[in-house]
Amino acid sequence: MSALVGPVGRWPDQFSLSSKSTTTPIQLEAILHYATSKITPQQTRKEIDESFKVLQSLGSCNFLVFGLGYDSLMWASLNPNGTTLFLEESPEWVKTVLKDAPFLHAKTVSYKTQRREAPQLLKTYKDEPDCRPDRAFVKGNRHCKLALDNLPNEVYDTEWDVIMIDAPRGFDPSHPGRMAAIFSAAVMARERKSPGNTHVFLHDVERTVESTFAKEFLCMKYKVGGVGKLWHFEIPPVGDNDSAAANTFCLSTV
Ligand SMILES: C[S@@+](CC[C@H](N)C(=O)[O-])C[C@H]1O[C@@H](n2cnc3c(N)ncnc32)[C@H](O)[C@@H]1O
Repeated sequence: MSALVGPVGRWPDQFSLSSKSTTTPIQLEAILHYATSKITPQQTRKEIDESFKVLQSLGSCNFLVFGLGYDSLMWASLNPNGTTLFLEESPEWVKTVLKDAPFLHAKTVSYKTQRREAPQLLKTYKDEPDCRPDRAFVKGNRHCKLALDNLPNEVYDTEWDVIMIDAPRGFDPSHPGRMAAIFSAAVMARERKSPGNTHVFLHDVERTVESTFAKEFLCMKYKVGGVGKLWHFEIPPVGDNDSAAANTFCLSTV
């Protein structure tokens, strides 16, 4: 362990630990967990580094993660003094994960979509006024199938600095797919009132649903990074007088 607390020169600046660093209980849990497990997160080290850099630069932040998995303890321990909330589609999987890691903060979310509906949803979502860019909202939006309208209030009451979309499942047409997670993340980012932009990370962008919905709602002009199967967007809030926002989620097409 001495290398970890050794001379700063041995580490790139972003990874250096100051003499004031204190390790939190969740970080200690993470060390023990990953040191004794053969199962590692699905994202590669390069992909993880993309969001790690942002979490490091923000310090403690509000971090919303779609999905519980082998990476959850890692995400929570990379934001040890902030708020990290996981949204998971499967109540059974929540129980399984929390049995071993009860200190993770996770809630179940139910989706109104199936992945097979993605092309039709993309083509027709503007037919529903409450889905349109000038009106879209998330909480209580029963008319827009893409809005996650029934989440716990703490999701709506918190301004999320970082949103990681690595769920729900979308590898079978009967799965929910990530359409609603992408749409809802985009709308929450646009509604932000605090200073700064919202960082949105989307995994599995080699798949058609992820890439097409990202282009529609997260917008390539806001893509600030990408590595492997991960895209990184930095989405600014929409001002009240931003008339260009009325017609499109992207202020210009790319
Ligand atoms: C693509 S996985 C995310 C995997 C995560 N990034 C990781 O590294 O483990 C998305 C969803 O798959 C489901 N899932 C992941 N691992 C599972 C397991 N071992 N058993 C059952 N469901 C699982 C959960 O619903 C999760 O939200």
